[in-house]
Amino acid sequence: MTTFLERLDEAQRAKWAEIHQGPFWTHLRAHGLDRGLYVRFMTEIFHYTRHNSQNQALAALKVMSDRVRLLRYCLHHAYEEAGHDLMVISDLASIGVPTEVVMASRPLPETQAFIADLYRIAAEGDATTRLGYSYWAEGAYPFIEDLTGAMRRDLKLNDNQMTFIVEHSTIDTAHLGAVKKTIAEFCTTPELENAALACLETSLHLIGQIFDASYREYCRDIAGQRQPVGDPAALGRTDTLIGASMS
Ligand SMILES: [Fe+2]
Ligand SMILES: [Fe+2]
Repeated sequence: MTTFLERLDEAQRAKWAEIHQGPFWTHLRAHGLDRGLYVRFMTEIFHYTRHNSQNQALAALKVMSDRVRLLRYCLHHAYEEAGHDLMVISDLASIGVPTEVVMASRPLPETQAFIADLYRIAAEGDATTRLGYSYWAEGAYPFIEDLTGAMRRDLKLNDNQMTFIVEHSTIDTAHLGAVKKTIAEFCTTPELENAALACLETSLHLIGQIFDASYREYCRDIAGQRQPVGDPAALGRTDTLIGASMS
């Protein structure tokens, strides 16, 4: 009989396969990565990562001490994710992208949808539902190897400039173990399992949309010859790509 973790694995493989067929990954595999596209998607990653502690903490609110290990997991994980957005800021700063530009940018609609859906899930669902998101997010590294390879090969980034991927992956190995343990203990009914599975599928779908939206904006940058995002010359200008991305 297929276990629930096997169903989650199967679903994440299928969703990543879909994502890899999309415009972002098709472009990446054919043409590699340049600075403009890298800054585009990293900026979006910054925007959603900075909400991870908050939406995880929100999921804890309805958990009482009759499920004390689930309560501890939610609170501990919220604490553990605190500040991971700063890794993105640091990585972008290492290639000359001003922090204030990243902070002042508005997330793309797809990123806003991703953020909003995680808050919705945390507020409306059982605390176990959000584990569907954590399951793929803490274990995404094998599925993004083409991307990390291109970051090293095309942008010549070293490990110190890729903390969100490299340093983070070590932290996330432990996180994934905790996620699996918590799922095994608390996703105990078909309803809870299906909700976590749906969360995995929806959040992975939306992350694919974020990658493709980043590529779409990058194409518009090139077509319109807008100021590359993160270019210091763009600071304070609202008619540049930064301003355009806010619309
Ligand atoms: Fe993290
Ligand atoms: Fe994590």
